Amino acid sequence: MTRFQHDILIIGSGAAGLTAALHLAPFARVGVLSKGPLTAANTYYAQGGVAAVLDEGDSVAAHIEDTLIAGAGLCHEDAVRMTVENGPDAIRWLIQQGVGFTTEEQDNGQMEYHLTREGGHSHRRVIHAADATGFAISSTLIEQVRKQPSVALFESRVAVDVITTQKLGLPGNRALGAYVLNNETGHVEVHEARFVLLATGGASKAYLYTSNPDVATGDGIAMAWRAGCRVGNMEFNQFHPTCLYHPQAGNFLITEAMRGEGGHLKLPDGTRFMQRFDERLELAPRDIVARAIDHEIKRLGIDCVYLDISHKPADFIKAHFPTIYERCLEFGIDITKEAIPVVPAAHFTCGGVLTDLNGCTDVEGLYAIGETAFTGLHGANRLASNSLLECMVFAIAASKDIRARFNDPLQPVTIPDWDESQVTDSDEDVVISHNWDELRRFMWDYVGIVRTDKRLQRASHRVLLLQGEIREYYSNYKISNDLIELRNLVQVAELIINCALARKESRGLHYTLDYPDLLPDAKDTMLVPKHYVARVVPPVSG
Ligand code: FAD
Ligand code: SIN
Repeated sequence: MTRFQHDILIIGSGAAGLTAALHLAPFARVGVLSKGPLTAANTYYAQGGVAAVLDEGDSVAAHIEDTLIAGAGLCHEDAVRMTVENGPDAIRWLIQQGVGFTTEEQDNGQMEYHLTREGGHSHRRVIHAADATGFAISSTLIEQVRKQPSVALFESRVAVDVITTQKLGLPGNRALGAYVLNNETGHVEVHEARFVLLATGGASKAYLYTSNPDVATGDGIAMAWRAGCRVGNMEFNQFHPTCLYHPQAGNFLITEAMRGEGGHLKLPDGTRFMQRFDERLELAPRDIVARAIDHEIKRLGIDCVYLDISHKPADFIKAHFPTIYERCLEFGIDITKEAIPVVPAAHFTCGGVLTDLNGCTDVEGLYAIGETAFTGLHGANRLASNSLLECMVFAIAASKDIRARFNDPLQPVTIPDWDESQVTDSDEDVVISHNWDELRRFMWDYVGIVRTDKRLQRASHRVLLLQGEIREYYSNYKISNDLIELRNLVQVAELIINCALARKESRGLHYTLDYPDLLPDAKDTMLVPKHYVARVVPPVSG
């Protein structure tokens, strides 16, 4: 059995994982795992940008207010304040690393960063690198992390589970490392570490249609749940209103910044419709725009609606949206002349692993940062472009917390090898592919943009059946990447459904025909695992 020893193991190579790695590298031996190449992450595909208060006419108070309004009463104000206040420094750090954000010449001839608008923002405050912000951030952070002698990068590695003292039958519940499948050799490795950071991204692959790449299977949330962490607000799945609708397009987003720069949503006959749903029109928060599109698609029995920016000058469109222009052209759509067919798709997981403001979870030594975490920032609906900001701010906070605890004495523990003695090679992989398809389809049909109790109960019934089958499969056959992901997806689907069933109101992204109104008290939905134990070591304060 192959074993690696790190001070800190980071599971995930998106904005959260790499920001943490760069902040931890100066004082620790860090291991970073990525399921595929380091770029295989939601971060790489981000388009619109990063929200932060960077303009003199803007203010921290306004960014906080916009975030709270979008979050529909469920944002934790301390998390919002911390994120917004630390936003400008996080952007400055990205610029220092070398991220080339888009600049624009001002009237006085000076070059300044261009700030775009997105739904729910009262000011222009989204800094971006044209329409490929994620590519710019990912490639810069990857370049920087490759220069760090104390960081070991492990690609094609899938963490199976976090190893904890509790799982080994020892007192308390402390993270000790992770079992990790090496996708190239097919063997399971042990990665030992004093601290483990889950930076595994979201779970939008639980849905049939998603803007997310294949890695977004909620592995960190499922692993944390199995390790004994509380998980919350999983009913708040954000559906992005505008993904390209084309049979060969796969998952391709049309950035909200296109609406921010004046794009109009239209029906097939060319008429605009957002005025019937919200006075903010195309720049209403995402939940409202996605529901409006869903409503029109169902009302008219059409396949998609259209996003039209062709009334703007062609040079402006090509300069601001070069990636989208090129990609649409591949499918014969010239966005400077015609409207883009679009549909909503699952995009962002607002809930996740409960953490404090340092990213600490319920398990000692286990942190969750980025989209995997439930920090309280997003409440019932994330404000556009607040996510990359959260990744950076909480990765830095977690790194500081680890530094403060780095020399705490720890009892050495012997971690056993991965035990494969009871399993054989699978002779029926169709179980995995069938269950994978079934799960994502019923999540889309029954736990999607508009819910009812009956639909959720149907989904709950099905998820329990799938869980039984997958549990049996997992205990009898050797693990593979697909089996690990399916096991996690089905776990996360159950958490989403249970949270959705528990919420007897419509709030933010959770909209149910059975309870269309808001309850007077805004409460988080918190799920507690069976083997939860309260932490012995409290979070470091300050
Ligand atoms: P990710 O970037 O998703 O990285 C997760 C990492 O974890 C990956 O490296 C993956 O391989 C690894 N991983 C997962 N499971 C395992 C496992 N079991 N073992 C090993 N490794 C594992 N947000 C904004 O703020 N602004 C935007 O403009 C924006 N645009 C977006 C556009 C698109 C198309 C999408 C999909 C999202 C967008 N978002 C945007 C959301 C934002 O990109 C994500 O929330 C953010 O990038 C998440 O970063 P992360 O580091 O938490 O996770
Ligand atoms: C987009 O560019 O529309 C995505 C922005 C986000 O998800 O924050």
